[in-house]
Amino acid sequence: MIVAANFKLNHTRKTTTQYLEALNFFLDSYEHSCDIRVYPPSSALQEIKPFTDVTIGAQNFYPSNGGAFTGEIGEAQLEEFNIKSVLIGHSERRTLLKENQDFIAKKYEYAASKDWDIIYCIGEPQEVRNLGFETILEYLLAQLDGIDLNNEKLVIAYEPIWAIGSGKSAQTKDIKQVLDALKNELRFNIPLLYGGSVNLQNVVQIASLSSCDGVLVGSASCEVSTFCDLIKKIESIIK
Ligand code: PGA
Repeated sequence: MIVAANFKLNHTRKTTTQYLEALNFFLDSYEHSCDIRVYPPSSALQEIKPFTDVTIGAQNFYPSNGGAFTGEIGEAQLEEFNIKSVLIGHSERRTLLKENQDFIAKKYEYAASKDWDIIYCIGEPQEVRNLGFETILEYLLAQLDGIDLNNEKLVIAYEPIWAIGSGKSAQTKDIKQVLDALKNELRFNIPLLYGGSVNLQNVVQIASLSSCDGVLVGSASCEVSTFCDLIKKIESIIK
């Protein structure tokens, strides 16, 4: 099971360090088997000490080792902190930052060529959801255009856009329908996450779905104590 925290534009370098210290302290005395990943803002990236179980990843990167790309960070900046895990295709980058499928595929190709761990996000907007399941599936699969699915480091996160940050997650039956269909359509062993208003109340139901291999958490990951409780809830279904 993967439990990933996407801080988005929350936390500074200082508060991220405090968060990671608290998270490591908790994990040191708590037997766990989850793959725990934290994606802080770029300015808070830091090398995690080798004895912890937390992977630090980047929410974003430019597919280059350097060059004239004002405002971006790339491979060299990630390498400085030994970052080998990235998010790609998040709906906020697709919509607010206007990343199109071609560019997302380029980022993916770059990350895959470096053998980085990738959480690749897909998700439909409300208008598409209203059109029924076949259209939803078609829309989601189009978000995988140009993506080499034969990559052991690939994890796909299904995050319906209307559920992100809304406080209202998708219904478990709808999540199940999409994740089951993705398992059938894609290489069966690609881990699938759900994201979109995951919280302490709904996480057990969602993570218990047989086709769900973990969660990508935004808002409910901001407080370290809540994130630790989420980990405990997930561990309780593994144990
Ligand atoms: P949320 O965000 O948990 O706040 O809905 C999830 C995400 O965007 O990854």
